[in-house]
Amino acid sequence: MSAVHVQHLSKVYHSAHSTGWRRFLPSRAPAAREPFRALNDVSFTVQEGEFFGLLGPNGAGKTTLISLLAGLSRPTQGAASICGFDVATQYKEARRSLGVVPQELVYDPFFTVRETLRIQSGYFGIHRNDDWIDEILFNLGLSDKADANMRALSGGMKRRVLVAQALVHRPPVIILDEPTAGVDVDLRRTLWEFISRLNKEGHTILLTTHYLEEAEALCGRIAMLKGGRIVALDTTQSLLARVGGNDLEDAFVRIMHSDNALEMLA
Ligand SMILES: Nc1ncnc2c1ncn2[C@@H]1O[C@H](COP(=O)(O)OP(=O)(O)O)[C@@H](O)[C@H]1O
Ligand SMILES: [Mg+2]
Repeated sequence: MSAVHVQHLSKVYHSAHSTGWRRFLPSRAPAAREPFRALNDVSFTVQEGEFFGLLGPNGAGKTTLISLLAGLSRPTQGAASICGFDVATQYKEARRSLGVVPQELVYDPFFTVRETLRIQSGYFGIHRNDDWIDEILFNLGLSDKADANMRALSGGMKRRVLVAQALVHRPPVIILDEPTAGVDVDLRRTLWEFISRLNKEGHTILLTTHYLEEAEALCGRIAMLKGGRIVALDTTQSLLARVGGNDLEDAFVRIMHSDNALEMLA
């Protein structure tokens, strides 16, 4: 069974400028009201147990795609499923199969790390989860922060908690949206060791990152997004071989600067 299945997915945003307080502004640039197609007919399948990379420049549509998979936003067209559960019509089952580490730091400053993780467990109906919570804390180097308030943690520590939160319900599929953006070397190493281990234990990983060295080392297959469309999708080895260049960064730049990457790869 596929872990993540995406079929002809499109997402059109209607400008934020037409809602909220901005609508009271006397002048609006006409262009700001144009609907914007952030995802354009995206289809791919990630098999169970894969370590899959979703790469693309800022604004390519990676976070939009992840929001659709997490059921946080509705597709304009197309469908997606997690472990066979449709993200729209079987939201609860799909959401339970998925752990998402969001790109933005979101947290409640009034809870401790342990409380945060217990609340997240409760959200999935899991009680007495402390053995697993302790194991996650240990593996993310957070054991000594268990009783610290979230607001007292550094940015890197908060990010570790976001990773921990995504794992409390032992989801078979884990999606990480730029988990290492702006974090120190130590956390990156800790994180990759842990995520690689989870992958070896059978978890499916979908990763977005701008650190192409990391992607090259970790991902078995890679999809590249540009302007909301998939412009390359292959095993990491085959992408490197077909596009040429020294490494994945070279291949990435070549693909992004090509007018017809799919033709280049054909
Ligand atoms: N809520 C929104 N309303 C309008 N436009 C949005 C919204 N979210 C994202 N976008 C636009 O969609 C495009 C893709 O954004 P995003 O999915 O965040 O890209 P990425 O994660 O690859 O950097 C960007 O041009 C962004 O400005
Ligand atoms: Mg993003």
